[in-house]
Amino acid sequence: MANNFWNDFKKPIIALAPMAGINDIAFREMCSQYGADVLYSEMASATALTKNPEKTLDMLSYTEKQRPYVVQLFGYHPEHFKIAVKVIEKEIKPDGIDINFGCPVNKVLRQGAGAVLMKDKEQAKKIIATTISQATVPVSIKTRTKSGQVELLDFLDYISDLDIKALMIHGRTLSQGFSGEIDYKTILKARDKFKGIILANGGINDIDSAKKTLDKTKADGLGLARGVMGRPWLFQEIKEEKDLNYNRDKIIDLALKHSKLAYKYKKDFGLKEMRKHLSWYISSWPGARALRQELVRIESIEDIKKAFEKYETIYR
Ligand SMILES: Cc1cc2nc3c(=O)[nH]c(=O)nc-3n(C[C@H](O)[C@H](O)[C@H](O)COP(=O)(O)O)c2cc1C
Repeated sequence: MANNFWNDFKKPIIALAPMAGINDIAFREMCSQYGADVLYSEMASATALTKNPEKTLDMLSYTEKQRPYVVQLFGYHPEHFKIAVKVIEKEIKPDGIDINFGCPVNKVLRQGAGAVLMKDKEQAKKIIATTISQATVPVSIKTRTKSGQVELLDFLDYISDLDIKALMIHGRTLSQGFSGEIDYKTILKARDKFKGIILANGGINDIDSAKKTLDKTKADGLGLARGVMGRPWLFQEIKEEKDLNYNRDKIIDLALKHSKLAYKYKKDFGLKEMRKHLSWYISSWPGARALRQELVRIESIEDIKKAFEKYETIYR
């Protein structure tokens, strides 16, 4: 077993939670520069990695600055995980491998993967055991607090003999989806059932919600998701417990920096994907709607600069 990087941190550990379609190489670099301790990838299909791995491997690319890097896999067939782990370790060389038991998206659920796997405890256990047996890096899992009739605490009992190094808990049930109250109590109780690192996730959007989550769950750290979309500096704010109060000029600088990274790594496709990130950077500004309409059409860095300049002539 390679070094278990999960034990190397000063707590609380502040991680970028996995986000499909968001956590690409450019966004991870922004989060890393603002102090994210651990960077999770977008979820990657174990099955795809057994067949045509090129596209998936491309999606998982990263730079050395973006470590520790955890690649998250989803799927249903243990034998696919067996192959996927080998492919990932050879081609990507991440610091850790995570398994998704929390995704509620139909495309994933239809394969018996993601959050429905939590209901299928036997299959889930086979997948985790296979992954651990193949991996030379630490294996972690990400779950919800409940899926169908299966409660997280029972799930953890069922897999308690497996050497899982970290657990990120999205404090909502599968039926809650992405909204509603966070169940801090279940995350707190998970400590009695799980000896590895616990990261609490869900609804952390600012310094206060980060403090509240740590206080109520006694977790070893946090996983940040929607709170950092258009706001990668939230990592630093939470770590330093200090609002950075970025003004518009600073945010424009950052949005441009992020856009240049997107272009550097993914060329025109990166800029297309950048459109949604740009909308998030400016979402709370006065007149954001008109600016957004321009930003969702940008084709080049020049277009982005022009859109911001036009906005500033009106709102300065
Ligand atoms: C756009 C988007 C993509 C996501 N993709 C993944 C994913 O690939 N794997 C995963 O385990 N969770 C995924 N999630 C769930 C987040 O990691 C997180 O658990 C959830 O958003 C709750 O945290 P939040 O309230 O801070 O956003 C995704 C969430 C969003 C909004």
